[in-house]
Amino acid sequence: MAPLLSSCGGIQSALDPAGREASQVATLFWVMTVGAATIWAFVMALSLYAARWKREPVSDEAAGKVILWAGVVFPVTVLTALLSYALWLMPSLRPFAGGEQAGLRIEVVASQFWWRVVYHRPDGSIVVSANEIRLPVGERVEFTLASTDMIHSFWIPALGGKMDLIPGRTSRLSLQATKPGIYRGQCAEFCGTSHARMAYPAIVMESADFQSWLDKRSVPSTGSTGGSGGRAIFRREGCGTCHRISGTDAQGTAGPDLSHVGSRLTIGAGLLQNDAEAMANFIAHSASMKPGSQMPSYLALPDGELKELAHWLKDLQ
Ligand code: CUA
Repeated sequence: MAPLLSSCGGIQSALDPAGREASQVATLFWVMTVGAATIWAFVMALSLYAARWKREPVSDEAAGKVILWAGVVFPVTVLTALLSYALWLMPSLRPFAGGEQAGLRIEVVASQFWWRVVYHRPDGSIVVSANEIRLPVGERVEFTLASTDMIHSFWIPALGGKMDLIPGRTSRLSLQATKPGIYRGQCAEFCGTSHARMAYPAIVMESADFQSWLDKRSVPSTGSTGGSGGRAIFRREGCGTCHRISGTDAQGTAGPDLSHVGSRLTIGAGLLQNDAEAMANFIAHSASMKPGSQMPSYLALPDGELKELAHWLKDLQ
């Protein structure tokens, strides 16, 4: 029981909900589980009774009644009740179908094996980020989900249900977080060799903290203008062809946006805790740390330059 129960909690558990939609999903799960357990116990008791205690033959009439009540009426009633409950739950999981509006829209575009995250504020301005999702507590947020290559799936179990990101179409998902904290999202549709390494922290913040976090990300990081050697190495190695850093001439979009990358909790899409050492390690060994990704390993970079580059990136706060 211990491992069973311990798997019910944690940052990536649908049974430890921290969002409105996740609570509904968890309730549905428990209703189904209790219902299924009750029916299973009843059927087991009935079969034990028939095998052990009821030895005399049963009349045709009695057998017919059992089939009618236990084989037709009972399952139809139970399944209709469960289906009705699930259908009743659905509109609140898909509120935009009913015309509800959200103030903040977060656009998520999945690629092998990372997430582009664009915050669209109500005033029309945008903030581009990657591999980390932040949202304000208590507010309904609209997610628009798309993909550039494979079918991926967006799922933050603690906050809500999952939805696929399908090339060529845009899906909408609603999430309303109810408890501040750090949770974890994970790609939930097999999409290639590094599918399991396609995750992200999902951080639920107090509304005011979230707004000031967003304000700070609306302007280039002060670290990006510094004349450090790291910046020169970044340019020399052509990193800006794939990566964008706001306030610099690096404007690539093939890889994750690195503006303010130093302030993210993880790097490599939830792969490593974000510090300069991990950053240097990832740049040098990305092909083996993240098999199948587009990012080449920079094994030839001298140790000193690697460190300089990593420190400059870490300073993009
Ligand atoms: Cu993306 Cu699995």
